[in-house]
Amino acid sequence: MFDTRNLTQFLPQKMRNQLDAYLEIATLFREISDPRVMASLGPAGVRGLILKRGKQDVPTKIGASHDAHFDWGYPSDMPEMRALYSRAKLGQWDSDTRLPWHTNVDPLSPERPVLPPAFVDFDRMQAEMGVRLNALEQRKFLHSLSSWTLSQFLHGEQGALFASAQVTEAVQFFDGKLYGATQVMDEARHVEVFHRYLDEKLNRLYHINDSLFVIIDALMSDSRWDMKFLGMQIMVEGLALGAFGSMYRMTKEPLLKELLKMVIQDEARHVHYGVLALREHFAKELSERERQEREDWAFEVALLMRNRFLAYEVYEEWFEGIVPREKWRLFAGTVPGMQEFRQVMFSRLVPNLREIGLLSPRIIPHYDRAGLMKFYNGAAADRVTGEQMIVELDRAA
Ligand SMILES: [Fe+2]
Ligand SMILES: [Fe+2]
Repeated sequence: MFDTRNLTQFLPQKMRNQLDAYLEIATLFREISDPRVMASLGPAGVRGLILKRGKQDVPTKIGASHDAHFDWGYPSDMPEMRALYSRAKLGQWDSDTRLPWHTNVDPLSPERPVLPPAFVDFDRMQAEMGVRLNALEQRKFLHSLSSWTLSQFLHGEQGALFASAQVTEAVQFFDGKLYGATQVMDEARHVEVFHRYLDEKLNRLYHINDSLFVIIDALMSDSRWDMKFLGMQIMVEGLALGAFGSMYRMTKEPLLKELLKMVIQDEARHVHYGVLALREHFAKELSERERQEREDWAFEVALLMRNRFLAYEVYEEWFEGIVPREKWRLFAGTVPGMQEFRQVMFSRLVPNLREIGLLSPRIIPHYDRAGLMKFYNGAAADRVTGEQMIVELDRAA
């Protein structure tokens, strides 16, 4: 990131903030060295980060072009996928009756906080941003931050709903199509429960974060089914699993905890599906050049996810005009809750990338520099069920 302090100290705060946002975008584009990755992420980056298509309060149309793959022979072509389909049918649940919606949720409750105060280090906020919040303000701030986080979960689920529908059409394995239909239902249920929770219990909904928009836009508009798979089933679902897992661990609000527990078990199957389909496809169907492109793309998206979910929408609500954007950026990237969230996310994601063949010796030094290689030997999604994940999270709580 550029240090702009000396250059911009004479500009009004608003202009300095705008400049900080543009320099952040420039840094993102500068990090992308592979021109093929730039061709995929660049146009989505312009639409998301500069034109801010996700924030215009009107429905967004994203053009999609992919081939629907029909097979009139209905082959039983992947036993492991078929077994996953059977498990997915049995794993369906009814959101109306399975979750305790009667629970009275007070978003400002100190006894049963949606996110605990330890998520944000308020002493550090005072030291680094010069802002002191009293006890009630801290609870209100956490209400904003938890609503923002859950809003991003909801927007990601909408992306997952449409991407899983696309993938169901486009995938070449017939057993994968049957499985894919169960995922479409799962994602619809996730959209429903997150929206209901935000609407009925937290009474808030935030816009989609620009970085999340970029990832969703890039994979929706890519015509290659395996890129959609990689983007959605491995990267975004991996991100979601990590985020859901750390929120499940941290929240003391019983309805949200139960909701996340159910969603995590569905998501574990989704990532498993991604690993099964891509491991086979990357090993057998792609040239080395094509594999390398996916390897680079995954690394860039991993960086995008690591560095850029910085809740600027919450900053704008609370601190714009009071604290420079740059100070928020530095603070938000290191709050304890965010660090834990990244830790859980990459501990899931990195083993999956290894398993599908996207962590070759060529890219490992880059992951090493980004501090992500410590997760290399973890279990991939085809070795961990949703139930096991919940047991692990409960043990760590
Ligand atoms: Fe989902
Ligand atoms: Fe999912």
